[in-house]
Amino acid sequence: MISAPITFIEPDLGDIATTGPAHDSYGRRINYLRVSLTDRCNFRCFYCMPAVGMQFAPPPELLSNAELLRLMPILARSGFEKIRLTGGEPTLRRDLVSLVEAMAHTPGITEVSMTTNALRLAELARPLAAAGLKRLNISIDSLDAERFRQITRGGDLARVWAGIEASEQAGLTPLKLNCVVVRGVNDDEVVELARLTIDRPWQMRFIEVMPLVGVADVADGGVVPSAELIERIDQALGIEFVGWFGADPARTYKIPGARGSLGFISSVSDPFCATCNRMRLTADGKLHLCLLRDNEVDLRETLRSGAADDEIEALIRYAVHTKPWGHGLPQGIKPTLRGMSQLGG
Ligand code: 5AD
Ligand code: SF4
Repeated sequence: MISAPITFIEPDLGDIATTGPAHDSYGRRINYLRVSLTDRCNFRCFYCMPAVGMQFAPPPELLSNAELLRLMPILARSGFEKIRLTGGEPTLRRDLVSLVEAMAHTPGITEVSMTTNALRLAELARPLAAAGLKRLNISIDSLDAERFRQITRGGDLARVWAGIEASEQAGLTPLKLNCVVVRGVNDDEVVELARLTIDRPWQMRFIEVMPLVGVADVADGGVVPSAELIERIDQALGIEFVGWFGADPARTYKIPGARGSLGFISSVSDPFCATCNRMRLTADGKLHLCLLRDNEVDLRETLRSGAADDEIEALIRYAVHTKPWGHGLPQGIKPTLRGMSQLGG
């Protein structure tokens, strides 16, 4: 799937600023890059990967550590400040700790964080924190071990909890927990998941399931609009609106008196494209301009063709410039090229 043909866009570097922090053609400041380190995963969440037929990129197609690290200062010069490591599952990447350390020490990069399924965090949380990783988002879609096993197709909830504990002890806080809500699968657990935040200083985030390649049918009838979840939590525990901060896709709420907070990511029912500040770098080296569209710009081939740093910077600035305004789900336009495990959320 990862070697599917990529939309080719002819670079037109005409009116694109060559210095200063890059803005897209709609004036949005793009300063956040989600970097997929691998398209592989040790889970098979049903809303992310199909049960059979996944094809993973052969290692030579992935950006090497040297290529990734060469890109970091060029990205920083183009205005990127925050890096989030994703996958697939980023902890499957060999040399993850040294990669984090080098990224975190790149001048201009102010924060390196990671989104993970937590399976390997019991051993990795401490070295990652020492290497300079700031924060973690951890996926947890159910509090019931058997249901968790079914959703992830084999995942062990106890190991995820051990990973969560290790992350807290290592100071990778404030923790954010992600739950992809699918009607009829785990929407009956939303109140219990929200309840976790009463005693714990976590942000529990509920994400509307999106129609990505390979699993698009899960979203058909599966989306539970955030407004419905807010209503349900309000009836059970009470809820108050806290705010919607900058480019954070989550609207923040809390249960009155709780130590933690709740976040609602309504990509489908109430998109937040106007404040989008991000792009994605796929493990095979394409800048993916909008999560829910297919537009990409190929960095890997330029890197491997012997291009100079300023040529790579021009291509990154071109990619930012051509970022689409928003997704086309309301018009029935769904992405066709890559699944979530190739994009990293
Ligand atoms: N819709 C919404 N979120 C998804 N994720 C994976 N697949 C989907 C989907 N189809 C989430 C993961 C993780 C983040 C990277 O993306 O649960 O929290
Ligand atoms: Fe793996 Fe995350 Fe996809 Fe689950 S959602 S299969 S943990 S990449």
